[in-house]
Amino acid sequence: MTKRALITGITGQDGSYLAELLLAKGYHVVGMVRRSSTVNFERIGHLQDDIELVPGDLLDEVSMIQIMRSQRPDEVYNLAAQSFVQTSFGQPVLTGETTALGVTRVLDAIRLSDHEVRFYQASSSEMFGKVVEVPQSESTPFYPRSPYGVAKLYGHWITINYRESYGMHASSGILFNHESPRRGLEFVTRKIANGVARIKLGLDTEIRLGNLDAQRDWGFAGDYVDAMWRMLQCDEPSDYVVSTDETHSVREFCEVAFGHVGLEWSDHVVIDERFFRPAEVELLVGDASRAREILGWQATTPFVDLVTMMVEADLDNVARQQRNLA
Ligand code: NAP
Ligand code: GDD
Repeated sequence: MTKRALITGITGQDGSYLAELLLAKGYHVVGMVRRSSTVNFERIGHLQDDIELVPGDLLDEVSMIQIMRSQRPDEVYNLAAQSFVQTSFGQPVLTGETTALGVTRVLDAIRLSDHEVRFYQASSSEMFGKVVEVPQSESTPFYPRSPYGVAKLYGHWITINYRESYGMHASSGILFNHESPRRGLEFVTRKIANGVARIKLGLDTEIRLGNLDAQRDWGFAGDYVDAMWRMLQCDEPSDYVVSTDETHSVREFCEVAFGHVGLEWSDHVVIDERFFRPAEVELLVGDASRAREILGWQATTPFVDLVTMMVEADLDNVARQQRNLA
């Protein structure tokens, strides 16, 4: 029997990599997409003949119930969220509705569908926030520092609550930052990679950034979607930290990215107050030993390879845009 998977957030970075992985494993992949006035299928355009898209929105419970009843998926991956931390300070209620209560809407729709479903929740290392121990593992207490982090913490606990209350196969991946050439342009890694490409190709002279001292445990998104799938193949649902177990600063990211194209980062990076946050997460570094032991999962892309992959991809993108304009 072909397994059926539903992905919310399929148009996002992770959704596109997860769809590729599940298709390669022979799944029938259904993606939930929300209505917008312009089509937003940049990351999944190449998959459109192989996946089924259904309309729905995490803000609308009826659409979720309808999808669950009509699609009867075996596995549900809840990746949809308002995922940009900076925006969550300006739009805290929308972030809570989507990133927190949206999880309950999906879980309730599954419960009402009266069908055996395995559920994955996209939890986040942002829940560790002002970290109380280093490195952070599944037993580290949470201390979120943004409306996004608070919303994700709600999503995390409601997943555990539905598992314990209704015996649902519901697992939560506490994923540390993961990046790729498909990362949204507002996130710092892609902003730097794209900025480096534009400077190298003569279109810009500077990148304006905020806190260069922030440290993150950055992995490759293509590796991380495999951990999501592995969690749902386990007999018992559980929660796992997924990380590289290495940390690097934004400044180091700049050094490697500019260095890759033979430029000095400090000649081009300008500090801009607009990109500082009201409360910052200074340091994240994971301990993924439980995922290694139980899931057999390991990050495979070193930091320098990730940075250079992203810069190379943006050099190609920017050069292509220049050719199209010529
Ligand atoms: P992303 O690129 O920002 O994608 C977010 C997805 O959510 C998009 O498909 C977006 O659709 C969809 N979405 C937003 N609001 C929605 C709504 N109301 N109803 C339905 N769909 C909605 O995020 P990502 O990097 O792929 O991350 C995937 C998930 O993992 C997110 O939940 C994120 O918070 C979490 N996470 C990410 C990381 C990371 O480092 N990437 C780490 C930990 C956890 P549109 O295309 O229509 O906007
Ligand atoms: N975006 C951005 N833009 N961040 C900047 C900038 C800038 O110009 N300058 C410095 N930073 C710093 C931020 O202050 C933060 O400390 C760090 O770079 C990373 O910022 P983001 O790339 O926006 O990611 P994030 O860590 O806040 O959140 C991402 O990772 C979480 C997992 O820990 C997102 O993908 C979240 O959805 C995810 O849950």
